Amino acid sequence: MNALQSLFEEMMTSRVSEAHKEVVFHLGDCRDVLANLTDESVRLVVTSPPYNIGKEYETFQTLDQYLDAQSGVIEECVRVLAENGSLCWQTGYFVRNGEIVPLDALLFPVFRDLGLKMRNRIVWHFEHGLHCKRRLSGRYETISWYTKSDHYIFNVDPIRVPQKYPGKRHFKGPRTGQLSGNPLGKNPGDVWIFPNVKHNHIEKTPHPCQFPVELVERLVLSLTEANDLVLDPYMGVASTAIGVLRHGRRAVGAEIDPQYHSIGLGRIQAELQGALKTRPMGRPVYQPPTSNVARKIKKRVPKGKNCSVLRK
Ligand SMILES: C[S@@+](CC[C@H](N)C(=O)[O-])C[C@H]1O[C@@H](n2cnc3c(N)ncnc32)[C@H](O)[C@@H]1O
Repeated sequence: MNALQSLFEEMMTSRVSEAHKEVVFHLGDCRDVLANLTDESVRLVVTSPPYNIGKEYETFQTLDQYLDAQSGVIEECVRVLAENGSLCWQTGYFVRNGEIVPLDALLFPVFRDLGLKMRNRIVWHFEHGLHCKRRLSGRYETISWYTKSDHYIFNVDPIRVPQKYPGKRHFKGPRTGQLSGNPLGKNPGDVWIFPNVKHNHIEKTPHPCQFPVELVERLVLSLTEANDLVLDPYMGVASTAIGVLRHGRRAVGAEIDPQYHSIGLGRIQAELQGALKTRPMGRPVYQPPTSNVARKIKKRVPKGKNCSVLRK
């Protein structure tokens, strides 16, 4: 019996499997799932925890209470993480009376005290969100990527992106005439631009803060191998499970809210039937065409001046 089968028997929770695809998705507290996972059985943890900002699924906690609760879950995640595994904690800001606290900074000492090493602080940039009046509008969140040891899995080839100048060649030295970049594409870097799941995003469900499946896919492809087990303690509507199944890995996680759990199960079933639509990895972000009005204004502005000259 493999780790997921015994977990399923143990907890009488939702298990969906088809051929080699397997997910255990528990309706309830993530600490129950964690308590049933054996040490070092998970190759990757990917999650976006509650931010304690008053979403419908949160009861407000002081920052100290929040930190305490997160520390307990993180400690368990580290216990179940394989020696060559990775942990990716996707967070934004705690906001109170206009003051912001970056959650990745708040949690950094917790991860370090548990012996994890940070490999990247990935900035996820998006273009939609609240319009702030007394500070700049927030247009990024972060993914803190930590590893348990120095011998971690990292495969960059499956997540390479197109070179800016694909045909560029060395023009001097011993490699003159040869391509200067990798023909498979370049390392995607640590600033990732994906639309956030709002309004008419194809993946939108009633959940207020899903992350996009393409974000999970990048992490799964670079930080795991076929059939590995990936954990999301705060699964929401199962975006992690979908990104994991799509690439032949197995998923385990929990969601405490029955509505989100049920939507998540439906999405998993649709994925297994090949019917779930997601935004494809690698699709460029939509750039709206310059409107006629903007084009006219541009024509009227003399070279080297900015728009303020028109207002005089
Ligand atoms: C930021 S959302 C995650 C969304 C998810 N990444 C997605 O794409 O759907 C955090 C989720 O954690 C759930 N949650 C909060 N406390 C939990 C707990 N103790 N155990 C399991 N789930 C919990 C919330 O209901 C919420 O859906």
